[in-house]
Amino acid sequence: MQNFNAPKGTQDLIRDEARGFEHIISVARLVSSLYGFDPLKTPIFENASLFERSVGDATDIVQKEMYIFKDKGNRTLALRPEGTASIVRSVITNKLYATNDLPLRFYYDGTMYRYERPQLGRYREFRQFGVESIGVTSIYHDLEVILLAIHILQALGFEQIETKINSLGDRTARERYKEALKEYYKPHLNAVCADCRVRYEKNPLRMLDCKVPHDALLAQKAPHISDYLTKQDEDDLLFVNEALNSLGIPTNVDTTLVRGLDYYSGVIFEFSYLPPSKKDYGAIGGGGRYDKLVSELGGPDLVGVGFAFGIERIYHILNEEKKLTEAVFPDDVFIITKGEDAKNDGFSLLTSLRTHQVRTVMAFEDKSFKSLFKIAESRGAKYALIIGEEEVKNEYVTFRDLTTFSQEKVAYSKILGHILNLIHKHDHHECSCEDCHNDKDKEE
Ligand code: HAM
Repeated sequence: MQNFNAPKGTQDLIRDEARGFEHIISVARLVSSLYGFDPLKTPIFENASLFERSVGDATDIVQKEMYIFKDKGNRTLALRPEGTASIVRSVITNKLYATNDLPLRFYYDGTMYRYERPQLGRYREFRQFGVESIGVTSIYHDLEVILLAIHILQALGFEQIETKINSLGDRTARERYKEALKEYYKPHLNAVCADCRVRYEKNPLRMLDCKVPHDALLAQKAPHISDYLTKQDEDDLLFVNEALNSLGIPTNVDTTLVRGLDYYSGVIFEFSYLPPSKKDYGAIGGGGRYDKLVSELGGPDLVGVGFAFGIERIYHILNEEKKLTEAVFPDDVFIITKGEDAKNDGFSLLTSLRTHQVRTVMAFEDKSFKSLFKIAESRGAKYALIIGEEEVKNEYVTFRDLTTFSQEKVAYSKILGHILNLIHKHDHHECSCEDCHNDKDKEE
């Protein structure tokens, strides 16, 4: 029999893991909407040339990592390795820039694909949450976008994030810097790897990311972009850095930071976090400004700035730090019945609880109480409602708190209010049980 495994570098997200991912994305969406961002959904595959033009044909992503295929119409397509190019493409194809409401502020999330060597925090299919703010040159937009990223990380429970920032300068600064890199690498061209020789011709900046030990050492001694920045670039970097610091956000101005995609210009940034286990999952996110991407892809001359997070990396860190336990929404209520009449009564309670937005499940199979309690426990239910013959006859529910194991009888007429009171402590519902009375007394 053939053994079907998930393809290398991909993973199934199951139960708490899937819930954790949903939680992270929903927090990111919510915080982004507070900053005026709206969702934009684009295809998972695009014409491969879109990424060659935007991400850059000297980058590892385009050179080595793209999932490229031909469709039946002989079109060369690629699974998206990142989201920025698609958002910009969509802004252009749909003429979204034809509005006086600039910048366009969009957020997006979804799977991205890079044929990388899978390792800790590195997958071939991974998920990103990102934002792009397109159409306005003010440096306040760079600041706004960085603050949004940090706001999301804080809302998720991150406390000490390392924020690296740098500037790649405007076009003139970068051209001068590329020339300086070429000068520097020229005497070493015979010694560098074959990839670097290609990078030398296409974009010498990419030589700085080379992982081959000899070339990585050379990169350490290479000139820094900071010596080639224009006055405006320096002022912009200083402004963002000081503004962040004055808001209590520590930064690390790292003049060696270049990022792995070609479209950047101006301020760039990257976030990382070392968990107590000291496991290095790699950067949890990064981004920056892109001055020419929109026009290079055939749109008007508009500036953009954005970032993307790697959801897997964020998930692993938050999980390690036990910051997702509240967020994974364990079942609130589990209903256990014995006998047909009890099943009927249980079912109407189930419907009513769900109508009142209480997460509830019920066991429909006839199993022993013991095994049903085990199921409730393994689902992480907070409360069990038991309805047997006695309960039906006397119209009450046996209510068991599965955390404290305390148990009480609650009349059919009161059970809904009782649960709603426990779950939404501050909503007022009619319930006469001792717990709820004590709460009410405290509130008054
Ligand atoms: P990036 O730095 O290539 O930037 O990716 C952003 C984040 O995605 C990384 O910091 C990392 O957390 C995650 N990531 C990247 N590759 C992998 C992988 N193989 N496995 C797991 N996680 C990964 C971009 O993609 C830009 N589009 C960001 C941007 C938006 N810049 C401006 N706007």
